[in-house]
Amino acid sequence: MAVIVALVCALIFSVSSLGNGLSSNYYEKTCPNAEAAIADAVKKAFANDKKVPAAILRMHFHDCFIRGCDGSVLLKSVGQNTAEKDGPPNVSLHAFYVIDNAKKAVEALCPGVVSCADILALAARDAVVLAGGPTWDVPKGRKDGRVSKASETRSLPGPAFNISQLQQSFSQRGLSMEDLVALSGGHTLGFSHCSSFEKRIRNFNATHDIDPTIHPGFASSLRSVCPAKNKLNNAGATMDPSSATFDNTYYKLLLQGKTLFSSDQALLTNQKTQQLVSKFASSQKAFYDAFVKSMIKMSSLNGGQEVRLDCKVVR
Ligand code: HEM
Ligand SMILES: *[C@@H]1O[C@H](CO)[C@@H](O)[C@H](O)[C@H]1NC(C)=O
Ligand SMILES: *[C@@H]1O[C@H](CO)[C@@H](O)[C@H](O)[C@H]1NC(C)=O
Ligand SMILES: *[C@@H]1O[C@H](CO)[C@@H](O)[C@H](O)[C@H]1NC(C)=O
Repeated sequence: MAVIVALVCALIFSVSSLGNGLSSNYYEKTCPNAEAAIADAVKKAFANDKKVPAAILRMHFHDCFIRGCDGSVLLKSVGQNTAEKDGPPNVSLHAFYVIDNAKKAVEALCPGVVSCADILALAARDAVVLAGGPTWDVPKGRKDGRVSKASETRSLPGPAFNISQLQQSFSQRGLSMEDLVALSGGHTLGFSHCSSFEKRIRNFNATHDIDPTIHPGFASSLRSVCPAKNKLNNAGATMDPSSATFDNTYYKLLLQGKTLFSSDQALLTNQKTQQLVSKFASSQKAFYDAFVKSMIKMSSLNGGQEVRLDCKVVR
């Protein structure tokens, strides 16, 4: 009997710590003011640039999808090694200075204690709050990684992915179809360059010039901001008309064929994901609850082994 109890206890213990080893009060003793300092840095940046929340949220997503949430997205290229941030799908990664400022503030309070990966996870939460979205308690204790390779950005999901490719990409990281739909709601914020969706609005395939799943009026507006000739590298479109506000507009637009990517539209091609889209379109609260749950899950993906002093370089 005692042996069984001990075994069960050991099992419960190993399961609860196996997940990630993160905790809410991780810096309670070692750096109690870290969260406030990070929130302050994000808030200051936001005061000057309303695009900061979108940038930070996407940065955290990219970080977590490559080698876990280990700050690998923040490392700069060194010598022969091209880092993630200099890899191909980096076009909309920006505002790295926000994380550097937060790190400086935190280092002044408690040197060498708070990881860059935790700073990014906390800043992503702060970003969502500043954009008017929900708040949540971020589990902490991530470590920074020592490896960042541009070639690994190829494992990020692409905007032309269909539902089975999306499902595979998420399930490889332990994330479900519900996580996929909830986290895709991040596309309520920000901007995309034409290159990420132009395949859908011109020469789509042999029989259709325009992707028939796009709303025709929306497709013409996209064609006018993304001219076939005289390409401007910075041209593109906002994710939705309220692209600085974290709301459920994305799901409402998705049901009307007015989102930018095939990967967004693909959420309507599976019964389960389509039902979730409808649910989130009709209830912002349901979206917020699901988003928070999935963010905590995504941001708990395992990562590195050290605490960097400068988020751009390994120790
Ligand atoms: C489901 C798979 C996903 C795909 C295929 C995808 C793809 C993309 C693409 C192509 C862009 C535009 C890049 C550009 O041309 O500038 C973008 C932007 C963005 N994505 Fe995603 N994404 C996905 C999931 C996510 C997730 C999980 C989040 C966060 C929870 C997220 C947040 C964002 C944000 C906020 C932007 C705007 C960035 C800015 O304005 O700076 N995405 N995404
Ligand atoms: C993105 O990558 C290109 C090279 O592929 C690089 O020149 C550029 O500086 C990178 N952008 C950012 C924001 O790091
Ligand atoms: C998704 O794309 C892959 C690769 O192109 C293809 O093999 C698969 O059949 C597609 N699945 C669906 C559901 O369209
Ligand atoms: C073009 O795409 C449409 C919509 O996805 C599809 O119905 C049609 O069969 C495709 N045509 C070709 C030639 O692939």
